[in-house]
Amino acid sequence: MHRFDILPIEKFLTGTVSSIKRPREIAHFSYDEDHQFLLDESSLRYYYTPPTGANLSAGFDTFRKFDDSQDEHLVSLLATIMDLEQRTGKRCSVDLVTWRGMMTKIMSSPYEKFNGFTMNATLFQGTIFIEEDYTAKVAERRQQNRQQQRGPSQDMMSYWGYKFETLSLIPKTWDDTTRDYIEGREQEIVSNYAQYCSVVQTGIGSNTMILGGEVDAVWDQKPDDPEQPINWVELKTSQEIQSDHDSLKFERKLCKFWIQSFLLGVPKIIVGFRSRDGILQRVEELHTQRIPGEVKRKGTASWDGNVCINFSSSFLDFLKDTITSEGVWKIRRPERMPIIEVFKEANSGTGDILTTEFMEWRKQL
Ligand code: A3P
Ligand code: MG
Ligand code: MG
Repeated sequence: MHRFDILPIEKFLTGTVSSIKRPREIAHFSYDEDHQFLLDESSLRYYYTPPTGANLSAGFDTFRKFDDSQDEHLVSLLATIMDLEQRTGKRCSVDLVTWRGMMTKIMSSPYEKFNGFTMNATLFQGTIFIEEDYTAKVAERRQQNRQQQRGPSQDMMSYWGYKFETLSLIPKTWDDTTRDYIEGREQEIVSNYAQYCSVVQTGIGSNTMILGGEVDAVWDQKPDDPEQPINWVELKTSQEIQSDHDSLKFERKLCKFWIQSFLLGVPKIIVGFRSRDGILQRVEELHTQRIPGEVKRKGTASWDGNVCINFSSSFLDFLKDTITSEGVWKIRRPERMPIIEVFKEANSGTGDILTTEFMEWRKQL
């Protein structure tokens, strides 16, 4: 058993800040309305200001909710990387490949006091591949459902997020013909089957990585020049801030918003503030890059972006020093404990982390 201590977080505050690379999109894929995987950008959506005053609960009974009871492992991400390698003839050699969500969990650990996580990892051709441990995730979800509080159900609150997306997105860039679509957005059936996922190459400290994650929308359009940054937009809903307590709660949420967007290079976050019962009251545009500085200036000391960056950099160094042989490894943060444990679970194989297609392809590349 190898162990990485999260505390004291001051150790991640001193010295120079680890260097970070600007994430660059190297590939992308879509899930269509049937959640079928497509190597294209058909599910890309565009942002258009949503109507304030809208009731986010409307249409809850017709929600097309994707059944995510299947473990998707890294299947789509690996297929996209394989396609890229087949087109370029070059291997993507990085230290780490995973979903953005896994990196978000790692990077936010210094400020997460309650929730734990479990991930599976394997070393293949010098790269560590990490997936979510699906069994642990299901157990965690069950636990969360038991903690049901008063007020709207978890399912309803989750619906509000998707409804807000539907109200804020259009399927193509704005022109005269989109007017009908914009007016029809409130009647649109809400569905979370379709997704556009960006696959980026990025780096934290001396660690290079490929991350895949969903992006909600683009502000204007994707630039033709692949070197240019993309004006991605992340959509979030949050309860209207009415007290100092609400304000502190929102500030803590901003840590997760920032990390999630930072990792894929999403420059703008649109927050839809809603009433307690789900009426959209206003939208606010946040600039991802400015969030840590703004939080720092408030003086509440709730979180520090540099700690998250330095923590991730040290943790990934530790991971590279630890996962040095083949087999299946676990990366686990126990609930309420300031440690991350790494241990080997199987001495050989790659579990279900890698697909046969991917391994076969790589062996002949
Ligand atoms: P909000 O973020 O506005 O709450 P994302 O913000 O990552 O694009 O996710 C879109 C929406 O999916 C969220 O909107 C929320 O409604 C829902 N969602 C995301 N993660 C969830 C989770 N773990 N449980 C329930 N709903 C979730
Ligand atoms: Mg999303
Ligand atoms: Mg979102």
